Amino acid sequence: MIKKFTFGTPFQTDAVVTQIPSTSEAFPYFQIHQENGFSLTYSMSGDDVVYGLGENMRGINKRGYRYISCCSDDAHHTEDKSSLYAAHNFIMISGDNCFGLFIDCPEKLTFDIGYTDYDTIVISTDSVDMDLYLIEESSLKEIVHSFREMIGESYIPPKWGLGYQQSRWGYLCEEDFNEVANQYESLDIPLESIYMDIDYMERYKDFTIDEKRFPHFETLVKDLKAKGIKLVPIIDAGVKVEDGYDVYEEGIQKGYFCKDKDGKPFVAAVWPGHSHFPDVLNPEVRAWFGSKYQCLIDKGIEGFWNDMNEPAIFYSEEGLKECFAYLDSIRDKNIGIEENEGLMNAVMGLANNPKDYDRFYHDIDGKPVVHTKLHNLFGYNMTRAAADGFDKVDETKRFLLFSRSSYIGMHRYGGIWTGDNCAWWSHLLLNIKMMPSLNMCGFLYTGADLGGFGADTSYDLMVRWLQFGIFTPLMRNHAAKDTREQELYQFKNTSYFRELLRFRYSFLPYLYSEYVKASKNSTMLFSPLGFDYPEDPVAVHTEDQLLLGENLMIAPVYTQNAIGRTVYLPEDMLCITFSAGEKRKMEVLKKGHHYLELSLEEFPIFLRKNSFLVLCQPSNNTESLNMNALEVIGCSDGSTMTYEYYNDDGYTKDISLDNASLITVSKETGEWVATSADDALSFYEITIMEC
Ligand code: GLC
Repeated sequence: MIKKFTFGTPFQTDAVVTQIPSTSEAFPYFQIHQENGFSLTYSMSGDDVVYGLGENMRGINKRGYRYISCCSDDAHHTEDKSSLYAAHNFIMISGDNCFGLFIDCPEKLTFDIGYTDYDTIVISTDSVDMDLYLIEESSLKEIVHSFREMIGESYIPPKWGLGYQQSRWGYLCEEDFNEVANQYESLDIPLESIYMDIDYMERYKDFTIDEKRFPHFETLVKDLKAKGIKLVPIIDAGVKVEDGYDVYEEGIQKGYFCKDKDGKPFVAAVWPGHSHFPDVLNPEVRAWFGSKYQCLIDKGIEGFWNDMNEPAIFYSEEGLKECFAYLDSIRDKNIGIEENEGLMNAVMGLANNPKDYDRFYHDIDGKPVVHTKLHNLFGYNMTRAAADGFDKVDETKRFLLFSRSSYIGMHRYGGIWTGDNCAWWSHLLLNIKMMPSLNMCGFLYTGADLGGFGADTSYDLMVRWLQFGIFTPLMRNHAAKDTREQELYQFKNTSYFRELLRFRYSFLPYLYSEYVKASKNSTMLFSPLGFDYPEDPVAVHTEDQLLLGENLMIAPVYTQNAIGRTVYLPEDMLCITFSAGEKRKMEVLKKGHHYLELSLEEFPIFLRKNSFLVLCQPSNNTESLNMNALEVIGCSDGSTMTYEYYNDDGYTKDISLDNASLITVSKETGEWVATSADDALSFYEITIMEC
């Protein structure tokens, strides 16, 4: 059951799609304080586990730290940080009470979850305007289900969005893209798309192409597509200030950019230098900005990534003036501790300075509203603009779309990548822990920069990260300029990478089917073990293993030089270990702890009892993948097993689980057979282990 409590006059974020009238009942569980802003206080019991908060630092259980919802560009997020690129204000408390809480408020919010006092949650904000949604159901799964129904179906990408994608900031010209495609092709390593970072544009101007470096853009798009490879360009939030640039001139003429306090377009510096932000909170501007993507769609592009949309700011004009004034003031001084601190703050504090977010305004129904009040909605609305624009071009077609910054609600329009990370083992673990938290908040199409974006990756990190990445819907290897090159052909052991990616493609029948079901049924794709085994305290507190869809559990290796890892099985399961040479080892393991020896090239998956996995023959891209001819691997005590399998053309928006096929696996006269009423399906191999 969901109850809505309204305080003040909240901004309508459109995060929620179902109409729920506000109740006048007293808000339960929490104490409310409304002096100096707003705060909610909750007393936890000793065993309470707190889930949620989507893209955030630390564990699946959020207890013991402080998190701040304030979309922030922070490429070097270490454990002490509190804000990442997104703001996902949904938490669930599981303990004496079990409920979910969504705080629909686009301002900065602090969640002190047992940080100041280990037994107390304090959620606080300067705002007095918000809608609170309290969701009470009998299990965590049901809370997620009700919440996700309330916020609407998650975005489903085209099937090709689940293929292996290569990216790097630093591909400068047509030859670079052909080189990547040719290397993958010559080594027979699957590749679905190549990302175009900011260098494809003319002086970093959105919706332009540098014609000197890309003289045959359309031919490039077409030729690569003929090889099954799509190009995916980036679009940034800032529009360059430059006379003669049509997007800039049109935006100025129509008054579509965010304004400063004097009503002049606000100038922030980003990649192109001085830029303006389109006021995407305004529906008219959204329609305008969204329509701009068409110029690239007309050239054959079918997918985009929206970036820098927290929005990130290198500096504002005013901020820069203040910085120089400070530098002038210490110019002739003998710089000691105080001035040194001031110097560092003046220069290092230029980028993404909170003061700058108070310096510009959105036009909300004809009235200026300072950006800080709506900060967490910018990336959401930039992405919504794009998705609406795509619908105008072709409302039947699925485009690939994901964003760096997001707020709940945006999950209906596109996915997210988890922003700039580093080639650190800790960021691989963070990626693992973040997946279920993101799913709770509606974000299913998501993944991290595999191998790490910043810092130089290593072969073993790349291997272990890909061994996890083969399970994430967005599977993109992306790296920053000036880091070690990490396309898979840059490493010696390319044959192993080929095998890993072949596994990914053979795994797509299960992944795609589970993805679509998770979107349509408002369920999790990646779950914490505690969701399915709530009575098992070890399962509840396991943070480095995940359930994936209905039938699978994964336990990735995430430490350097590990020769194995401990895995906890919450029930008897079939462990399948994949190793180099595409070899598989299968063994039924009993409930409890096991130490598994896993060489660098080995990774395990675990099948739950009386369930099976569907795989297909691998291929080098989704277009040539046959997801109707299936292999079945399972584990049964002799019972007949069924699986609801969903597959479709992967391109159109006509997606209905009514078209799913039931697959039955049963033992007939001593032999396991797989059958389905769907004539399109065939089964080329069936392996069932008795357990
Ligand atoms: C931002 C993005 C990153 C991109 C870079 C250059 O840092 O997060 O993915 O490569 O900008 O566009």
